[in-house]
Amino acid sequence: MVSYIDLSFFGIYFLNKKKSIYLPLMESIPYDKRSGKIWFNGKTVDWKDANIHILNHGLHYASCVFEGERVYDGEIFKLEEHTKRLFYSAKRMGIKVPYSQKEINDACKKIIDIQKVQNGYVRPLMWRGSEMMAISAQKNKIHVAIATWEWGSYFDPQLKLKGIKLNISSWRRPAPNTIPWDTKAAGLYMICTLSKHEAEAQGFTDSLMLDHEGNVAEATGANIFFKSKNEELHTPIPDSFLDGITRREVIKIAKSKGIKVIERKINPDEIKDFIGCFLTGTAAEVTPVSQINENKFQVCKIITDLNESYQSLVRKKDSAA
Ligand SMILES: Cc1ncc(COP(=O)(O)O)c(C=O)c1O
Repeated sequence: MVSYIDLSFFGIYFLNKKKSIYLPLMESIPYDKRSGKIWFNGKTVDWKDANIHILNHGLHYASCVFEGERVYDGEIFKLEEHTKRLFYSAKRMGIKVPYSQKEINDACKKIIDIQKVQNGYVRPLMWRGSEMMAISAQKNKIHVAIATWEWGSYFDPQLKLKGIKLNISSWRRPAPNTIPWDTKAAGLYMICTLSKHEAEAQGFTDSLMLDHEGNVAEATGANIFFKSKNEELHTPIPDSFLDGITRREVIKIAKSKGIKVIERKINPDEIKDFIGCFLTGTAAEVTPVSQINENKFQVCKIITDLNESYQSLVRKKDSAA
């Protein structure tokens, strides 16, 4: 049995009979044990009171869509684009949102102010409630919540400098006619968790998933780019996986620097011919990749330059819209 003792500023020691592991304070507190406020169905409630019954459609049948946003210097980067995608995801899932996009934008801003988040993460989500517990969910009420917390790097900052290692997942992204693939619908993420766990068990940080035809697709929560010998960037066409907001921003930055960006089908056999590789995503930002299976890459100057430019973009106040 694992238990934990809150040792205030010193962090939390997770204890069991065999070992004690130190983890930094915030990262070690389970998410349901934190304090503060959460925006929940139009009201601001105490963190501990943001609860739902176990019999709800979101939990049993993945009737849930969500967003992942980052706060930089007290402002949400690309808030309106994230909210637009949230509503698009909901529409694709047949979820009728009981709020306007403006109300959700305002609620996101309000909750980061209440929580005093300066540099962190925002997680809005919408799910079907408990009125029907069967495949059909025509009568289920739609619930909406927004949580936010201070947050740093998604990957270990040391690894982020050296580049992370990916395996190639034994799981593939689904075919576009099997699921609303261009959304952040919760059901899509079970494949990501399977892949990530498989990668971690093999000693990798993350996993590169192929698409349904066996071409390079994306990592478990980020898009992928490669640098070729002739200084071009190659990235898969997002025709069966998320066209990330960060991906689109990084393409704009690269083009403004005169770098040629080629969107095309990439066969995994081509990976060995690339010199560099990186991931992009709200959580991952711009993260160099040093290895995919046995293929090694350099953390090239193009990648560190793109990372620096992305970091200055996200901290520009006028980039929030
Ligand atoms: C599966 C997946 N692919 C790609 C991305 C990158 O998208 P974005 O840059 O919009 O965060 C994410 C993150 O949201 C993701 O979860």
